[in-house]
Amino acid sequence: MMSTLSPAMFTRLSGLFYEITGIRLKEYKRYLLEYRLMRLVGPDRRFSSFEELYEALREDHTGELRGLFVHLLTTNYTYFFRESLHFSVVREYLQGRGREEPYVRIWSAGCATGEETYSIAMVVRDALPDVDARDLKILGTDISPEVLYVAHAGVYPIRKVQTSPYDHLLARYCRFDEGEGILEVKDEVKRLVTFRRLNLMEPYPFRRMFDVVFLRNVLIYFDLPEKERILSKVYDVVKPEGYLILGLSESLVGVRHRFLHLKASIYSKRG
Ligand SMILES: C[S@@+](CC[C@H](N)C(=O)[O-])C[C@H]1O[C@@H](n2cnc3c(N)ncnc32)[C@H](O)[C@@H]1O
Repeated sequence: MMSTLSPAMFTRLSGLFYEITGIRLKEYKRYLLEYRLMRLVGPDRRFSSFEELYEALREDHTGELRGLFVHLLTTNYTYFFRESLHFSVVREYLQGRGREEPYVRIWSAGCATGEETYSIAMVVRDALPDVDARDLKILGTDISPEVLYVAHAGVYPIRKVQTSPYDHLLARYCRFDEGEGILEVKDEVKRLVTFRRLNLMEPYPFRRMFDVVFLRNVLIYFDLPEKERILSKVYDVVKPEGYLILGLSESLVGVRHRFLHLKASIYSKRG
């Protein structure tokens, strides 16, 4: 029998989604939630009703189903060198003040399938020929295990690639298989990168502070209190004079935070 999502069940499922991610789904997203969860609910699917799915999510001790649930309801859209002007911040930092730093850490928070993280790593490798002799690491994190699986593999459909001023880096640091329609990030770039699952709403387990944090196109999904909580936690793990980079269309007007606004979507921590 075809399932339909009642307002009460929407409230329970969206409440659970908020509990897990910190993101509130407004009532007008009811149809979107129903549509996206239809992969799990319906005739010949894993669950015959949303009630059954909800109970299974509540009892999910392994986290496998919750991971899938989050994956289906989040937007993982990304591509290599998206909003490309931000990558010059990394290059300028590494060739300027970053040279003197005993260690450099760059964090791509909410990295989705990893293209942003690898784009940073390509810029790093290009800007610092001696990078292997430096203590430099790039971390990509996301809440969704499904996207991290793709990120680890580092293999992408060529059709997802968009032209940017960094096409030469993609050509240098990826192996293109036109026949299969895929590209693979080369090991020399992969080596600089680590991917880990991290929920931005939970405690951050870092031992080192970050020089640059990319938090692009992630905060837009959160309401004001959650945005402020995440920004405060991120502030605490950025080095003094380090950078925070948000998505180009994101603004912190009306949001309480301690960063200094440099320009457009680029912020820094006071020294
Ligand atoms: C639209 S993608 C942004 C990808 C990339 N930063 C970019 O700008 O192209 C947003 C990502 O944020 C992740 N996300 C959503 N809520 C999260 C949370 N509470 N903790 C960590 N990541 C989260 C989603 O899983 C998704 O992959």
